[in-house]
Amino acid sequence: MTPLKVVLVGAGSMGLAWRDTIEATPHAELVGIADLDLAVARDAAAGLATPIPVGDNAVELARATGATAIVNVTVPEAHHEVATAAMFAGLDVLGEKPVADTVPKALSLAAAAEATGRMLMVSQSRRWNPQLFALRSMVEDLGAVGSLTTEFFRAPRFGGFRERMAHPLLVDMAIHAFDSARYLLGAEPVAAYCEAYNPPWSWFDGAASASAVFTMEGGARYSYTGSWCAPGTETSWNGVWRVSGEKGSASWDGDHDPVLHAPFPPADRPLAAYSGIAGALEVFVDALASGSTPMGEVHENLLSLVMVEAAVRSAETGERVLIDDVLDRAYAEALAAETHPDVRAALAAWPSPRAALTGP
Ligand SMILES: NC(=O)c1ccc[n+]([C@@H]2O[C@H](COP(=O)([O-])OP(=O)(O)OC[C@H]3O[C@@H](n4cnc5c(N)ncnc54)[C@H](O)[C@@H]3O)[C@@H](O)[C@H]2O)c1
Repeated sequence: MTPLKVVLVGAGSMGLAWRDTIEATPHAELVGIADLDLAVARDAAAGLATPIPVGDNAVELARATGATAIVNVTVPEAHHEVATAAMFAGLDVLGEKPVADTVPKALSLAAAAEATGRMLMVSQSRRWNPQLFALRSMVEDLGAVGSLTTEFFRAPRFGGFRERMAHPLLVDMAIHAFDSARYLLGAEPVAAYCEAYNPPWSWFDGAASASAVFTMEGGARYSYTGSWCAPGTETSWNGVWRVSGEKGSASWDGDHDPVLHAPFPPADRPLAAYSGIAGALEVFVDALASGSTPMGEVHENLLSLVMVEAAVRSAETGERVLIDDVLDRAYAEALAAETHPDVRAALAAWPSPRAALTGP
């Protein structure tokens, strides 16, 4: 298999993790590093055994180096611009979560992938976890699911932008759990109710704690309770999970193999062959080679971002928020704001945003 030639875009803290991940696989070849801050790109390239070109524009660098894909690790506000330019230049895109900083921009990206025929996959890194796959396998045998819960309690001192955000926990972290919940239940969200708040001792400006309840298709409730200012008995970064079903329960501490609590043994199903961002990269390369649609493809990923938006809106209004209301409003905004005629045409052809994202 010829390695996929990629340009890394965005060489900040997560970009360096991606640089090392791309370097570590024989299935991809890092041929350039782009960052608006050229010094950052140069520093990232200086850490490599073989020198590679750097630049401040991913598309130009891809043209110069023969890359056919980019890995987009820029800040969320830049995801839309960078990915759109890449797809219209004929490049496939593997991007960091969140797919975009707003739902309308995320919808625009889904339509841009349709208009260009390029692959846009979101690396929702925590989905590629063999333990999560094992938990999903258990869920399949539990019959109807009544409730799924995640508890997430950590006390990180990040400094920087996260401590200034209005909803750091919901926007920057909870998307991983929401995305895993969709995967575990094999069900899409219908409605959200959320309270987000900041405990008096918090070192965050915004709401560092939140409790959200989602009604999922089929009637299961997904409950997420978390805090980023919770010193003492911290949970896994993956959270602590419990599934309660018709025939039993399953639990996962986020770091070790999940446990089935039922009168039958766990089924022997294949688990994820990959994990973390390395997993996302292997899946991206495989999907391009085989022409298959991977988990995390922009359409499939997008409802995880919508869950975040619905939780934030509920927390700000005090009301239960319907996922379709968030989607419909974002779709109208996306249509009104779209400047690219091909993307606008793709958006306009959707029967509805939910149908476009989830298929018939
Ligand atoms: N999956 C995870 O566990 C995880 C963890 C941390 C960060 N992330 C995600 O990774 C992404 C990057 O986060 P980070 O912490 O590395 O941010 P960062 O601020 O450290 O780095 C971002 C870099 O992107 C560059 N950049 C911004 N706009 C650009 C543009 N238009 N073209 C080229 N370069 C541009 C900046 O100059 C900066 O060097 C975010 O989407 C974040 O949510 C994911």
